[in-house]
Amino acid sequence: MQRSLSAIQPTGVVHIGNYIGAISQFVKLQDETEAFYFLVDYHAMTVPFDPKELNKNLLQVAATYLAAGVDPTKATIFQQSQVSEHTELAWILACLTKMGEAERMTQFKDKASKHAERASVGLFTYPMLMAADILLYDTNIVPIGDDQKQHVELARDLAERFNKMYGETFVVPQPMIKKTGARIMALDDPMKKMSKSSVSPKGYIALSDDDKTIAKKIRSAQTDSVGTVGYDPNHRPGISNLVTICSEITGSSPAQIIKEFEGKGYKEFKEVLAQVLIEFIAPIRTHQAELLADKGELVSILNNGSARAREVAEKKMKQVRSALGIKL
Ligand code: AMP
Ligand code: TRP
Repeated sequence: MQRSLSAIQPTGVVHIGNYIGAISQFVKLQDETEAFYFLVDYHAMTVPFDPKELNKNLLQVAATYLAAGVDPTKATIFQQSQVSEHTELAWILACLTKMGEAERMTQFKDKASKHAERASVGLFTYPMLMAADILLYDTNIVPIGDDQKQHVELARDLAERFNKMYGETFVVPQPMIKKTGARIMALDDPMKKMSKSSVSPKGYIALSDDDKTIAKKIRSAQTDSVGTVGYDPNHRPGISNLVTICSEITGSSPAQIIKEFEGKGYKEFKEVLAQVLIEFIAPIRTHQAELLADKGELVSILNNGSARAREVAEKKMKQVRSALGIKL
């Protein structure tokens, strides 16, 4: 059976872009593959963070995974820092990565420019930790949003390089990126990606937003002056983004949605979209709150998942040590 693996950073809220680009794929793949989905708390330390917040976010994001349909009886759900092989392999992969390769990573360039003098070395080596996350599990498929493609390509390059230099050890993973919905844009600025770290919460719809907030954010989402519901991401990014969100949540194609709103304006479309999102998010929000009321159960799911992940990772690291000549 093929293995799928992916992860989310336990920072901030989980938004509808994360769901459409990544989590919706997890829910599907957990039935078709042996699945590993986890929380990358070490990645969350690459920018300044507050330990109390990180602790809270770990449980919150775990609850969101479950509420959105990731099922611990099907997928192994775990915490990165509980499996120390991740950081061990990351060091080895860092020794295999060229400075130039790491410097080309667009996410590093973006984030480093935002954090300027505070950019950490960890932010620079982040893609090697991500490569370790993937390669430790002999992963075949990595379901992700568009922004992570370059990181998975680096993981592929490192797997191939290691295999060539030290003998066949790693499976070369494939990214799995949706044709549409892989890059949901910010509601208040459709030229930018919807992001947890947006300055303003107006840019994203969180899976924990209440009905009123959802309606308000959709109502104020940026469109254009054309006035008709259309789909043309290059020329009309705002309305096209809203149509994409609607399409991904309802399963209707953009063409069907456009047809349905022929002769109607943005206001009517936004009202329907808000209702679609409210109906989609309300049960997730309620389930998430219920799960968070019993932290013991969440912690036990993560501990059990981590124990299972450790078994796989320990085995792989033994092979890696042996290939590198450090096993005595
Ligand atoms: P992160 O929030 O960076 O931990 O991302 C978790 C997953 O969601 C990754 O697979 C991302 O590629 C995906 N993702 C993040 N933002 C978006 C977005 N705006 N549209 C689609 N997918 C996204
Ligand atoms: N870097 C990814 C993100 O920000 C999260 C991540 C870490 C990941 N390790 C991974 C995704 C391994 C897929 C596979 O979204």
